[in-house]
Amino acid sequence: MEETLILVNKDDCQTGFAEKLHIHQQGLLHRAFSIFIFDRQGRLLLQQRALGKYHSQGLWTNTCCGHPRRGETTEAAARRRLFEEMGLECELRLVSQLLYHEQVSNQLIEHEYDHVFAGICQQDPVANPEEALAWQWLSLAQVSQRLSQAPQTFSIWFRRIFERHGIIGLRAWQEQARSALFDAWRHAIVERTERMLEQQLPSSETLPSVLHQAMRYAVLGGGKRMRPLLCQAAGLAAGANPAALDMVGAALEMMHVYSLVHDDLPAMDDDELRHGRATVHVQFDQATAILVGDALQSQAFITLRRVPVAAERQALLMGELAMAVGSLGMAGGQMIDIDSVGQALDIPRLEQMHRMKTGALIRAALRMGALCAEGAPFDLEPLDRYAAAIGLAYQVVDDILDATADTATLGKTAGKDAQDHKPNYVSLLGLEPSRRLVRQLDERAHQALEPLAERAEQLHELADLVINRLH
Ligand code: IPE
Ligand code: IPE
Ligand code: MG
Ligand code: MG
Ligand code: MG
Repeated sequence: MEETLILVNKDDCQTGFAEKLHIHQQGLLHRAFSIFIFDRQGRLLLQQRALGKYHSQGLWTNTCCGHPRRGETTEAAARRRLFEEMGLECELRLVSQLLYHEQVSNQLIEHEYDHVFAGICQQDPVANPEEALAWQWLSLAQVSQRLSQAPQTFSIWFRRIFERHGIIGLRAWQEQARSALFDAWRHAIVERTERMLEQQLPSSETLPSVLHQAMRYAVLGGGKRMRPLLCQAAGLAAGANPAALDMVGAALEMMHVYSLVHDDLPAMDDDELRHGRATVHVQFDQATAILVGDALQSQAFITLRRVPVAAERQALLMGELAMAVGSLGMAGGQMIDIDSVGQALDIPRLEQMHRMKTGALIRAALRMGALCAEGAPFDLEPLDRYAAAIGLAYQVVDDILDATADTATLGKTAGKDAQDHKPNYVSLLGLEPSRRLVRQLDERAHQALEPLAERAEQLHELADLVINRLH
């Protein structure tokens, strides 16, 4: 066990290096980490230390512990040890740090600056018998009960951490780990979508180059990419091929951006700002903006024709998208929107408008993701119910943000609906009832996903993201 570890001061600044056994004999303050792996249900993975360990043999403790070596980052060391000890690989998030100084067995002293990491893992470990004698998943309530019944069967650092943070603290770590996992997924999808859009749009040099420049200006480098995210999450639940989903996501985003470019035109909402910069008709001109919309719509179908699925599937995808954006979907909803300026719509009509102008494309995004899965038939019914809830919520949140957020945060002109006398949820229901409705819709979205169980993880997270978005 010859290993050179990092000595630190009480602020975790490196002060030198020393050999592992020497450090623990002398009680020198050194850098260490403790990993807490949870499953999505909130159970904690405990390990029982192998009998051949240099101290605390046979005691139960958190999932994995260790030390970064000279020249190694703490996070890299944590990943390395989690794999060496438990055969697990997962996203880790730093959730806490603590300094402790305790006598352990074999006349050794643990004097550590401990970095606590949390992660989420659904899979059972493959424990290395030289490190762990046994493992088990326990709910935090069970952990707490065992700690009070038989504290001496647990490692001292695990006891100290649990005493300090309790069930509530550990549950918060699980939450943080869960959101870290989702953020990593979301960023990866956004990046892949960006790359696919970049590839699927004609280059700026292709003639007519102004049109292609304007298309690229409209599409690249802005937007939350919510429709591609929803498509990917549904595809994941259904078991679709990610390469197909990347292309479908790009097609959806082209269609969405076309709708924004036209929505901003002087004849429609007459907006000069989108994604924090000049709208297409301001940056170029109106004729170009109209043609950008036309061309993006067609480019979306060209992209769908390239999706690596059977031709009949491509046809289904095209049908879904066409239905969603036509006169019975987005374009129809926009017509009602434009027609209702200055009028007080009743709630059913307002709801219909929102379902058409925004909900229809969101529903298509989800269905198209699932349709990319060519294996066993997938029941679209739960997805449709989910889509009905978040599709409406999406536009209600947009109405709330229009009334409450500022232009810098939104990247588009705030207060535009009231200024233009557009009937929307805030003007019809008021702010608080609109917020209440959004919360109800969020609940409905989560309920709709029940039949999909853990396959719907990203869809659950996306529902919350839609509801809590700030721009
Ligand atoms: C804005 O959509 C228009 C609505 C349909 C509410 P998003 O808010 O999804 O637009 P970006 O692409 O992320 O800016
Ligand atoms: C736009 O609704 C809906 C579509 C583009 C289809 P809004 O007009 O409220 O969208 P923003 O607020 O301009 O993004
Ligand atoms: Mg509009
Ligand atoms: Mg608008
Ligand atoms: Mg709006």
